[in-house]
Amino acid sequence: MRFHLLAAAMIFTSLSTVFAQGSPQSLEDALANTDNLTSFNDLLKSQFPELVANLSRQDQQSQQYVTLLAPSDSAFERLSSSSIFADNSTKAIGSFLNYHIISGDHQLSTVNQSFGFFPTRLDDPTYTNVTNGQRLGLVKQGDSELVIVSGTGTRSRAEQKDIYFAGGVMHVIDSPVLPPQPLIQAAVPFNLTSFLGAGYQNRSLAQYITQARDVTIFVPNNVAFEKVGSTVTSIDARSLTDLLDYHIIVGEGGPFYTSSFSNNTIYKTLQGGNVTIRQASNSNFVNSARMLQTDLLIANGVMHVIDNVLNPNGTGAVPDPAVGPQAPALTGSSVADTPFTSIIPSLTSTISSISSLPPGGTGATGTAGATSTRKTTPTRSSATSQSTATGAAPRTYGDGVRPMAVLCGTFAVFIFL
Ligand SMILES: *[C@@H]1O[C@H](CO)[C@@H](O)[C@H](O)[C@H]1NC(C)=O
Ligand SMILES: *[C@@H]1O[C@H](CO)[C@@H](O)[C@H](O)[C@H]1NC(C)=O
Ligand SMILES: *[C@@H]1O[C@H](CO)[C@@H](O)[C@H](O)[C@H]1NC(C)=O
Ligand SMILES: *[C@@H]1O[C@H](CO)[C@@H](O)[C@H](O)[C@H]1NC(C)=O
Ligand SMILES: *[C@@H]1O[C@H](CO)[C@@H](O)[C@H](O)[C@H]1NC(C)=O
Ligand SMILES: *[C@@H]1O[C@H](CO)[C@@H](O)[C@H](O)[C@H]1NC(C)=O
Ligand SMILES: *[C@@H]1O[C@H](CO)[C@@H](O)[C@H](O)[C@H]1NC(C)=O
Ligand SMILES: *[C@@H]1O[C@H](CO)[C@@H](O)[C@H](O)[C@H]1NC(C)=O
Ligand SMILES: *[C@@H]1O[C@H](CO)[C@@H](O)[C@H](O)[C@H]1NC(C)=O
Ligand SMILES: *[C@@H]1O[C@H](CO)[C@@H](O)[C@H](O)[C@H]1NC(C)=O
Repeated sequence: MRFHLLAAAMIFTSLSTVFAQGSPQSLEDALANTDNLTSFNDLLKSQFPELVANLSRQDQQSQQYVTLLAPSDSAFERLSSSSIFADNSTKAIGSFLNYHIISGDHQLSTVNQSFGFFPTRLDDPTYTNVTNGQRLGLVKQGDSELVIVSGTGTRSRAEQKDIYFAGGVMHVIDSPVLPPQPLIQAAVPFNLTSFLGAGYQNRSLAQYITQARDVTIFVPNNVAFEKVGSTVTSIDARSLTDLLDYHIIVGEGGPFYTSSFSNNTIYKTLQGGNVTIRQASNSNFVNSARMLQTDLLIANGVMHVIDNVLNPNGTGAVPDPAVGPQAPALTGSSVADTPFTSIIPSLTSTISSISSLPPGGTGATGTAGATSTRKTTPTRSSATSQSTATGAAPRTYGDGVRPMAVLCGTFAVFIFL
């Protein structure tokens, strides 16, 4: 009840203003007094008391508030059927919980109607290689919906918002936020197998881009590779590596989410050449390729799906926003077979682990991917978000290099054999 009074006082724009009105309750009280948090509260009290103590101690003077995303009891029920708690590993569960803690004060009134990506406390390199902590996407839909986007395109909705406690603010979410997966597991549900296959032609490149910190990857979809199939399958190995490297930004101040794009921004790629971001007709483009799906979070950064293979020898390509699919930037003719997919390693275990993730919020599935991205990406990238991803059904690929996915909860660690 106390809360509803505070919540009603939404005219406040910062927690310090809120707190100036009187001392807020402790986190312990907030957890105990909020509906539907029995499981979350039990887990914290029994196994993570230091975390509760830490969050309660957040320094109000320096205003280092946190935003705590608290999965509801029904969110937890779905989680219990997943593998997250299977090993009862304090490290794995602790990291999962850390992904629910966002730096800063993100009350509904301060969340924007276009996506923002904010650092969380998940910073253990076993699970993430994003500097300052793996990010979560926050967006306000309409006047009062708070939507959170996490790994595998998971979309969670805050069902109780703006519950203040001494260290910050808490939202109760209808589906847990899931730590982003390494590139390969993240890309498969979006059917980005040509790019993965091409990457696996050079195993050390595949390993490097999976583990490098703070990457931004522009991933052409399979149709894009088919359109220039004759070229990409006939160039020499060095040229193919160069080509792929031209789709990847390592570091350079990234990862670069759509929220960091502006018109005519230039980024230096791993290949050495520059790519240029352009914005038009509610779309983002990189060189002449249109971004079809944006801000797909991965363990070491972010990927954006594009409709064209970029050409490192054609850095000046410009988009024609008026047309749908952009003209290929490489010369070459199309091929019937999707290039490079025959060498994709067997990913059966990976894919089945992804499909065993708990369903996302609001009736969506955990791998809602395309749909949820489209729904939750406002204006700029939404208008043209058309996708090839459907939350793919499990499928097996031919033999080849076999990375072995060792699953720890939702987290997968790659061992290159
Ligand atoms: C608690 O959960 C139940 C069942 O999911 C739901 O009907 C109810 O609205 C929730 N309570 C609050 C305060 O959101
Ligand atoms: C809480 O934990 C974080 C991350 O481990 C640490 O950086 C911070 O200093 C701690 N805060 C307090 C008040 O103990
Ligand atoms: C998980 O481990 C903790 C100790 O770290 C223990 O208290 C708890 O009972 C265990 N839970 C299960 C379900 O085994
Ligand atoms: C909201 O958007 C505005 C303008 O784009 C920006 O200045 C501000 O920092 C954003 N707020 C948050 C919390 O991201
Ligand atoms: C992060 O990078 C380190 C090497 O620097 C690697 O051992 C670890 O597996 C990477 N983490 C993930 C999730 O890929
Ligand atoms: C394979 O990738 C590694 C790491 O990026 C690179 O050093 C090497 O030159 C590449 N090999 C070929 C044949 O392109
Ligand atoms: C780009 O140009 C270099 C040098 O002429 C060539 O070796 C390479 O194959 C070209 N790459 C593509 C994708 O055409
Ligand atoms: C890339 O762009 C920067 C300016 O942002 C420029 O200084 C640099 O020369 C460009 N590099 C190439 C290879 O064109
Ligand atoms: C972005 O810049 C290009 C010129 O490079 C311009 O034609 C276009 O209108 C600009 N887009 C926006 C949204 O301002
Ligand atoms: C993946 O892409 C290929 C080639 O475009 C297509 O034939 C296949 O049906 C797609 N699979 C899924 C699950 O979307």
